Amino acid sequence: MTKRIVVGISGASGVTYGVRILELLKETDFETHLIISKSGRLNIEIETDYDPDAVEAMADFVYDHKDMAASLSSGSFLTEGMVVVPCTIKSLSGIANSYNENLLVRAADVTLKEKRKLVLVVRETPLHVGHLRLMTLAAEMGAHLLPPVPSFYHQPKTLEDIIDQTIGKVFDYMGVEHELFRRWGENKNNENSRKKKTRILLAQKK
Ligand SMILES: Cc1cc2nc3c(=O)[nH]c(=O)nc-3n(C[C@H](O)[C@H](O)[C@H](O)COP(=O)(O)O)c2cc1C
Repeated sequence: MTKRIVVGISGASGVTYGVRILELLKETDFETHLIISKSGRLNIEIETDYDPDAVEAMADFVYDHKDMAASLSSGSFLTEGMVVVPCTIKSLSGIANSYNENLLVRAADVTLKEKRKLVLVVRETPLHVGHLRLMTLAAEMGAHLLPPVPSFYHQPKTLEDIIDQTIGKVFDYMGVEHELFRRWGENKNNENSRKKKTRILLAQKK
């Protein structure tokens, strides 16, 4: 059966994480189902060189975030899970409170009620206690909270290394095979071959 991943891009800083996830998932056998919020589209224009429509073109299926009658609104539409990347505090709040006022939040709520994997790449700083409570609520309901907090043990050299490390953590949880970063305990000498492999992967895509 086709393995489907729902990708939600909301209007937090870091929409480039969402774009990169779509780019990488294109190289896998996962089918992507994309919802971009209105603010997500705005931030793609502000923070990246992409046109929001070009980002949508990277996905296999695209939904209007106001279309509450879309397949993703129903648990009967089977998916492996959903990643909200980046996830704003507003969308986190909607998800934590099951306030399904748009398709992105509704699809996340469906993912939780069906006990599927939901990753929230929540991006805000600093965090007040209200934000922390919302994250706790979401975690208690089964969401996987995975803020874009970089690690440095793999010695990132570029922004892409930092972005890919967070995406690698998302992929680990979602069961997407990857070689996006050097794991702790992995031989540093393998680094060149890993980088070469990733470059080949991306070159094949072009
Ligand atoms: C340039 C820019 C950066 C933003 N960064 C964040 C952020 O990092 N985290 C956040 O929670 N909201 C951020 N916001 C605010 C959200 O876009 C805003 O709350 C919006 O209503 C969220 O709607 P959505 O969750 O439906 O995308 C940012 C807004 C702009 C214009």
